[in-house]
Parts: sequence; structure tokens; C-alpha cells
Amino acid sequence: MSNFLEQYRYLWPHTSLQNAPNWQVIEDKRIFLRNMPESLEEIALDSRWPGFFPSPICFVTTADGTQVGLEKVVGPSIVNRFPYVLALSFCILPLSERHHIRRAFTNMLENSGSVALQFLPPGEYLDRTMSAINTIPEEKTNSRIAYSGLSTRKALTNDAPVFEAAYMVYEASLVKPSKDFDGNPIYTQPWIDVGSHRIYFLEINTIQLRQDIAEGRSQILWRSLPVWQPQHELQGLVSVDGDAIEDNGYKKGYTPHYAFPSPGTIAFEADHVENGMAVKYLPTLPEDQVEVDNDKARWPCFFPSSAGMITSWSPDGHPNLMPCGSTTIVSRHPLIITPCVSYAKINERYAPRASLDMIRKTGRFGCGVPFINEVILNAMKYAGNISLAKDPQKVAHAGLQVESDDWSPVLPALPVHFDCQVVKEVSLGTHIMFIGEVQRIRVRADVTPENPIEWCPCPNVVSL
Ligand SMILES: Cc1cc2nc3c(=O)[nH]c(=O)nc-3n(C[C@H](O)[C@H](O)[C@H](O)COP(=O)(O)O)c2cc1C
Repeated sequence: MSNFLEQYRYLWPHTSLQNAPNWQVIEDKRIFLRNMPESLEEIALDSRWPGFFPSPICFVTTADGTQVGLEKVVGPSIVNRFPYVLALSFCILPLSERHHIRRAFTNMLENSGSVALQFLPPGEYLDRTMSAINTIPEEKTNSRIAYSGLSTRKALTNDAPVFEAAYMVYEASLVKPSKDFDGNPIYTQPWIDVGSHRIYFLEINTIQLRQDIAEGRSQILWRSLPVWQPQHELQGLVSVDGDAIEDNGYKKGYTPHYAFPSPGTIAFEADHVENGMAVKYLPTLPEDQVEVDNDKARWPCFFPSSAGMITSWSPDGHPNLMPCGSTTIVSRHPLIITPCVSYAKINERYAPRASLDMIRKTGRFGCGVPFINEVILNAMKYAGNISLAKDPQKVAHAGLQVESDDWSPVLPALPVHFDCQVVKEVSLGTHIMFIGEVQRIRVRADVTPENPIEWCPCPNVVSL
């Protein structure tokens, strides 16, 4: 990470888990364990996430004709490809000083039906916006933009204010009822309440990207995985029969050091340039949106995401692993993790996953946190391209050990693992969002305040 980004870095854990209340030390496995959910009293005292999950941070604005609102969003996530849908969740229950009701903002969003999601480059403007949000209480969200002192203009497709300093803007509207590719109804309602939060589903209609970035004179740099150094061996022996599968079909590449645009990424195909921003309008009709070509079906522009290592058991006891970029935390109490798993048959890239059936049948999944490490990255590339349907020994061939006596397959090489119970699934068009309540968190004993997991939630922008 560049020195400049150091000030935005997030380190976990904040305190040692060794003597922490509710955490158990399991000596022989060299792990810390805690059962979930926590009590409301515990959350009221400290409502920071009890386990680490890498989430990006950005800003969102909305306007209802009389007022404008500004909020910070932790863990914005693209949850569906066709239509292209963004999920944002906001707290609707009073849990703590940190997790309180965002009613002024969400009322405005529900009245106006649209938002502008924005990314500001690290530095003064981002700091001033963050400080406005931290200083001005939520009921006065209308005054936050003025307090930040930043200049704005209107979004192109709605009235939400857009910061002149934003380098990337996603304009989106609450989804409308429609049908998926099998003719089943989707989006009968534009939001759902899960635990302490309301998840809004917003269809992206316009993307603005700073012209110098769109033209390749500047780049967005995003480190999509955290950094961490294991202090004891990464894992035990991986025993495996036979060779890994060679698949000559479509391969999804993966690097946690993402630079956009660059030779490996999609080019941003703008319709025109306005206010120094290259602008792309997305087709409004679902039939015009679908790109069958595997490459063209990629996301049309950069959007920061990380990955969950989603594990599940097959009915005959085979472990599976599916790296899942569309994974985020949507509720604080109970803590809820939502991987979005492809179910529609679009092309090789978007096809029904073996994990889909396994998670449905067992009603459980695990979510491990990957980090930058050669063994883990190789495993992500293998498991992210080969289905268990083709390779029943997929996880071993990916090079990862599995601990088998658990709720969900645990990959001991990963620093943090969440066991989740599926309480609901939501069909979104191409992807199914599993609503997974965290039942238990497992952390390796070598994750300590002296040897923390390091994460930066903001992409950087550099000129070339
Ligand atoms: C970094 C990365 C992120 C991915 N994100 C998703 C995702 O969000 N949703 C999805 O359905 N597939 C995603 N995939 C693809 C699946 O991991 C891949 O199709 C996998 O082989 C499915 O395994 P299965 O059929 O055994 O379940 C991703 C792959 C990689 C490498």
C-alpha cells in the first residue's frame, strides 16, 4: 500500500481475542471461536463487526425535491448482472451510537427512488465528506453537503447531487417488478428488511467515469484482498488422488492488485463526455442488456469488490469452495452475510453453480476471508473456474486443506471463517442472494493485534 493510503487503513483485531469475553480459545486447533448472535447489551457497548470482512466504502446522495441527503456506505455491492443491480443496506433499528436509524436518508431515498453512488479520491475531499458525515447528525443529513464545502452538480438521470470531485458515479433507481429469464417474478418489492437493516435494490442506469481515467491517462488502483502474514504453518497436508482438471473453456482471471483501465480489463465504452466525465447509459430493457459473449458480459466499469470464500457440503459429503465477489455484510444484528450465486444460464461466465444446489439443500454455508498469499490466490483461480460438477475433489485440487467436522467446510489456511445459516433467498435475475445469519466465527490464533489483518477500503487514483 502506498504511504499516502496508510491513513485509511483498517487493522483487525482491535484487541486481543485471547481473553475477550465470549471468545473461546481452542488450544489444539490454534483458533479462537465465538458463537453468534451477540446480545443486544453487548452490541450497545461495542457494535463494531465482531469478525473481519473486507468491504469497500463510498458515499451516496439522494434528493426528494426539497432536501438532499448524504450518507457513507460500507460494503456497497453489485448483486446481479442482468439487470445490473446494486444493493445498499442502511440501519433501521437503534443498536448503538455507531449503528443507529438512518431514517432521514432512507425516507428521502424511498420518496425519490434514486441515488448517486460516488467515489472520491483519497485525500482532502474524501476527508471533508467523511468529516461532514461524522459531525452532522443523521436527522440533519440535508446540511452535510454544505458543511463539507464541496461543490456539486445534479446527477444526469435524477436530482441527487454529485460531487465535482467524484471520479466515478453510479446513478441508480429502485428496482421495479419484472421477470427473470425463466419467467419467474423478481423484485416484487424494491427493498427487504433483514435483521437490523433494510437492503435497497437499485438498478444502475448511468455510469460516469472521470475522462482522464476513461482515456487511460489515469488509473484506479484497488487492492481487493487484505494483507496478512500467517505466524504458524498455513495449513496441514492436502491429500488428493488424481490430477486437477484442465478446463479449456472460459477462464475468469484474478488478481488482487487491480488497475483500471489496464490491458486485462474491459474498456469503458462511453456514450459521450459531459462535465469532464465519460458517461455510459445502460439499456433500459432487460432484453437489450444481456450480453451473451463471455467478455462483453463482464461488469461494464470498475466497481470495488473483495471476495468471500463460500464453502458448502454436498449431500454425499464433498466439500465445495466458490470464490464469490458479490459477497457483503448487510445487517449488524444478527450479523448477516449475503453471497450472490449465479443461477441463470446466460453463458459460460454466468451459469448455475454447483454451490447453489448444495447451499439450498443444506441451508448452510461458510464464508472464509481470503488474503494475499500465493497458495490462496492459486486456489481462488482454480476454484473460481472449475465447478464441483466437473471435479469432485475440487478443493483439494485447488490446494486447500478442509476441516471436515464442521457446520460448513472450514479452510484452516484462512484467517477468519463465518458459519452461516440460510434464512431466506432472493432471486435477482441472474443471481440468487442467500441471506446467511452468522452462527459462529472462527479466527486463527495467529490473528492478533500484533499481527493484524490489514485492509484499505478506498481505491486510489493515480495519473500515469
Ligand atoms: C474472484 C472471483 C469472484 C467470483 N464471484 C462470483 C460471484 O459473485 N457469483 C458467482 O456466482 N460466481 C462467482 N465467481 C465464479 C465462481 O466462483 C465459479 O463459477 C465456481 O467455479 C463455481 O463453483 P461451483 O460450480 O463448484 O459452485 C467468481 C470467481 C472468482 C475467481
